[in-house]
Amino acid sequence: MFTPFALEEWQSRYEQEVEFNLADSGVHPVRLKELVDDPDKLERLLATPLHYPPVGGSDGLRRRIADLYPAAGAENVLVTVGASEANTLAIHALIEPGDHAVVLEPGYRQAWGTLRNLGARVDAFHLREENDWRPDMAELAKTIRPDTRLCCINNPNNPVGTIFDAAELQQVVEACRRVGAWLLVDEVYRGTERVRQDETETAWGSYERVLCTGSLSKAYGLPGLRVGWLVAPKELVETAWRHHEYFAISTGVLAMQIAELALAEPTRQRLIDRTRGYIRQGWQHLSEWADANRELVSVHPPDATALAFVRYRLDLPSEVVADRLRTEAGVLVGPGSTFGVEQHLRITHGFEPEYLDVALSRISDTLRGMQRA
Ligand SMILES: Cc1ncc(COP(=O)(O)O)c(C=O)c1O
Repeated sequence: MFTPFALEEWQSRYEQEVEFNLADSGVHPVRLKELVDDPDKLERLLATPLHYPPVGGSDGLRRRIADLYPAAGAENVLVTVGASEANTLAIHALIEPGDHAVVLEPGYRQAWGTLRNLGARVDAFHLREENDWRPDMAELAKTIRPDTRLCCINNPNNPVGTIFDAAELQQVVEACRRVGAWLLVDEVYRGTERVRQDETETAWGSYERVLCTGSLSKAYGLPGLRVGWLVAPKELVETAWRHHEYFAISTGVLAMQIAELALAEPTRQRLIDRTRGYIRQGWQHLSEWADANRELVSVHPPDATALAFVRYRLDLPSEVVADRLRTEAGVLVGPGSTFGVEQHLRITHGFEPEYLDVALSRISDTLRGMQRA
């Protein structure tokens, strides 16, 4: 039976019609003119022949992406339509019906749903709220088995913002190594750190069976470009590429060109700093709002991302609460159920304060009304 992608379905149904969209997972997006900021760049862009681009990504872009990973070369990189396609390709390249896989929960349920739709048997290990959303390593040790083919984690995590520390990441790698499982690490939020300046350590290079995915959608503020990537051992890039030819052929030629501009220094660092600025300011506003509305909500401070996974004090399913916020407050948030966790809403805060503050006060007014009723 087909498992729909509940979070993406929720967003695509409603995001174009709400007044305030706090359900997206990035920050206020970059405008094209912030990247194409001189006449030469503009002229090169306007002169681009709109032919099919190199299917696996232009050489220049693959090299720039490889530079973000220790000891990776262009041959380890496949450019895709966002990290979404990269995750899909990685799973399709590795999984056959009946294979066993382990996923981290709560999480962006793309790997979970794709695995189920391919007929894999899927078990989970968890980030525990009672332990400040740290990973339950004892549970991983029990869940991973000699026949586990693939383990999927997302680091930093959507929706709770946890960054695995070096010891935790090492434990995941060792658990995979013991049984020979592949490890897929969705690192799309690398660069969105709130509590530190250095970027989240990549899992690339920690084990010969590691695949990493990333994109320009979160840390770089460019989700509309639809540029992402898979970083993997060369043979696996080749296999994923065969699937890419079925799924998408390639991403867009203009998108690849703009992606090269975004990843060239000093632009790359400027974009990361911009994103972190939104995240740090947005978190300040959101946490002050949560403190001022203690009787309604609580939230654990995330290490990274523009996301807050907010617990609400109402005895109602998250989809009902999110639907009331949508229809009565005009604010779209992500229901916890779409991440496999009830009593929570995922609220994105990486926006201009004027926009965020109005949306948050509408949320608390509506929740208060629901609590009274
Ligand atoms: C963990 C995670 N992976 C992948 C994606 C998809 O990203 P992209 O826009 O690069 O396809 C998202 C988007 O929300 C995400 O949260």
